[in-house]
Amino acid sequence: MRCDCQTPVVPVLFFMLLLNSGISEAQQASPPDREHLLQREAERLMEAGQDPQWIRMIMIDLELSTDLSEASQATCRRILRSLALSGDETAQEHVLSVFENEPERRSMAAWALSQASLQHPADLRHWQLMVRSLTVVEGSDAVSVMQALKRFRVRANKAQWVRQVILKGLPLAESEQLHAASLLQHWTAVPEKSAESWTLAQYQEWFQQEYPDAAPAVLPVDLPDRRWTMAKLMPGIHEIPVDDTMLKQGAAVFESAGCAKCHRRGATGSANGPDLTTLGWRRQKSEILKSLLYPSHELNEEYPTVTVVLKDGTTVSGLLQAAARERLSVFTTAAEKKEFAASEVDTIRSQAISAMPEGTLELLSLEQIQSLVAWLTSVDGIPKPHAADIQE
Ligand code: HEC
Repeated sequence: MRCDCQTPVVPVLFFMLLLNSGISEAQQASPPDREHLLQREAERLMEAGQDPQWIRMIMIDLELSTDLSEASQATCRRILRSLALSGDETAQEHVLSVFENEPERRSMAAWALSQASLQHPADLRHWQLMVRSLTVVEGSDAVSVMQALKRFRVRANKAQWVRQVILKGLPLAESEQLHAASLLQHWTAVPEKSAESWTLAQYQEWFQQEYPDAAPAVLPVDLPDRRWTMAKLMPGIHEIPVDDTMLKQGAAVFESAGCAKCHRRGATGSANGPDLTTLGWRRQKSEILKSLLYPSHELNEEYPTVTVVLKDGTTVSGLLQAAARERLSVFTTAAEKKEFAASEVDTIRSQAISAMPEGTLELLSLEQIQSLVAWLTSVDGIPKPHAADIQE
């Protein structure tokens, strides 16, 4: 017998909800009253203590999550924390599913897990998700996650994660940077004696020496003449209404801006660089903007950039690709395929920079960028990737 093993969480929960709780006050109201009633109901449920109605709380979380008002988001946060702290399996699974399936709420879910792991004995699954959350958590959420990670004996001492902790620590206030430094000490055992502590600047320097081939642990900087920056593109990005016209425009920009020469999304484009089909399941909008503005900030190990020096002195940089025997193929930043006979090549050096060109957004209007991001993150009709494919 064939089975589609993905549980349809929402419909099942919805069914259980109908069985369990009947029709509540909030279900009859219209927004924003409805949101207000849901917030109050959640507070009551969380205060009730005895016999908490996890299913109802999950339903409220799912419903309020689409309302971006501060009050609703704060309620969702508290609900996720209660669920993470509960010993209930369904409640716990919901928090994990928010982390996996809703990239925009990954930070909130990681924070909830960090709060839970301050009280619960070590759960390695939580540890893994919190490590993965380091690419997205910021500010006090980052502090809470780093404090929680320090309580686990297991260490994520691969260059990639060590770098993430340095990067997360750098924007924090000096007093909070200590949490990043002490997690780094725990993971790397550098400096050896834990009585001594290093500043993040010392870790940055150490990182450069320890991993000379990795991208440096330095925050990206905007060139002074750049038209588009994170500060200009982020405000309001979550409130932009997405309709068919916008998605069509996004798809057109993907082709006209040259992205399709390197990337595939669904049936569009070619797969010289990473496949972007399931991007919306995997990445937040802010991560996508960062990839576009600072391509070399996060490098994908599967797409190493090389610089090939030919015997005649010419150099070519780009992605090293599979080629026939005795030949070498490079897909350049200008999206051209170049092939050489191995005998023409003098040296090949790997580079800690992306083959993806910088400044691709500069010629685009705000609306074009917004529609490109909307199209890239839309998950309509796109199946969820298998969990193993989302490990960063
Ligand atoms: C010359 C090839 C090339 C072009 C052109 C290019 N990219 Fe990329 N892109 C890459 C490579 C290679 C990576 C992987 C990062 C790295 O270099 O390690 C990447 C990474 C990305 C990522 C991050 C993917 C992930 O899984 O997180 C996004 C998003 C992206 N590109 C979008 C775009 C868009 C949108 C355009 C057009 C404006 C574009 N790229 C143009 C080669 C390219």
